[in-house]
Amino acid sequence: MTQALLDIHDLWVGFSSEAGTIHGTRGVSLSVDTGETLALVGESGSGKSVTALAILGLVEHGGGRIERGTLMFRRRDGATVDLATAAARTRRAIRGNEIAMVFQEPMTSLNPVLQIGEQIAEAVRLHQGLGHRAARGVAEETLARVGIPEPRKRLTSYPHLLSGGMRQRVMIAMALSCQPSLLIMDEPTTALDVTIQAQILDLVRDLQSEIGMAVLFITHDLSVVAEVADGVVVMYAGQAVEEATVEDLYANPRHPYTAALLRSIPRLDRRADATRAPLSAIPGVVPHPLAMPPGCAFAPRCDGAVPDPCERTRPSAEPVNSSTGHTVRCFRWCDGVAGTTAQAQLGAAE
Ligand SMILES: Nc1ncnc2c1ncn2[C@@H]1O[C@H](COP(=O)(O)OP(=O)(O)OP(=O)(O)O)[C@@H](O)[C@H]1O
Ligand SMILES: [Mg+2]
Repeated sequence: MTQALLDIHDLWVGFSSEAGTIHGTRGVSLSVDTGETLALVGESGSGKSVTALAILGLVEHGGGRIERGTLMFRRRDGATVDLATAAARTRRAIRGNEIAMVFQEPMTSLNPVLQIGEQIAEAVRLHQGLGHRAARGVAEETLARVGIPEPRKRLTSYPHLLSGGMRQRVMIAMALSCQPSLLIMDEPTTALDVTIQAQILDLVRDLQSEIGMAVLFITHDLSVVAEVADGVVVMYAGQAVEEATVEDLYANPRHPYTAALLRSIPRLDRRADATRAPLSAIPGVVPHPLAMPPGCAFAPRCDGAVPDPCERTRPSAEPVNSSTGHTVRCFRWCDGVAGTTAQAQLGAAE
């Protein structure tokens, strides 16, 4: 078995609040292989961004802490480090260098008063120890690589002078300037129109095959996943409820929540305006983080749930197909509950 680039096991992240500890993730396990694109999908609040923050070593910045679990990351030099317990200095050296991030809204992550060339060059100087001139050269090269016309001229532009799509390209250029082995993209295209969205996704795919980096692609939109990802992890209420290759997941979803998500993908003829729509076709709501049901978190919304064990015991991940790595957290996946829920949804929709 090849060693994964990133292997997350049983990740619990807690945020203290007056009413008690809110768990952003409740035992997330997943792995990303070198060069792979793994999509993380799920409704709002399912723990996608918290998982990304944990990988970046930024949970404490958001007022939380990693309570349990390991995040084993293979560094460029071949050494493996647990990002959950690594020293702050090590995490800083990895962040923005070996693991880079592109956020949803570039305007909040770009410095409005610094020319974009300065911002990229600063990242390069910091992580690669290059001098001023050389770093500027790398900045120009990277801008050209992400398809920004007249890159030398653009080095002196300020972020507000660029369009949304161009700013997103600059963010990607910054993220790529250090040739990371893992790029995390948290809802990178939701703020963009559909045509620009497609261009950005194409660009990332091209660059990925060029550099050989892995991508963790966070989205609530399953229709984008089919276009970009090799593997998919479906998140629900802070847990990874199903992990599979894109082919397995679409052809053979085993978790009733996954099946319901697939049913909620807009039809092709309605696709243009529906790509931004939140996944709202599933009846019921995600349980409140301070009032998790004692059994399966999806049981209250599941047509296939039975009192015992679904409402009493928390399911653990079970292998569906060990040769493809397909796993599911459902007691009743063998009984075809995914199909039952999908049928019920179809009936309700028509
Ligand atoms: N700083 C924080 N303080 C308290 N709770 C938090 C904090 N950040 C996240 N959470 C909680 O952790 C859970 C997971 O949040 P997260 O941001 O990871 O969701 P998400 O899947 O990224 O959702 P979205 O699709 O809306 O971005 C939510 O219940 C959220 O309320
Ligand atoms: Mg998020």
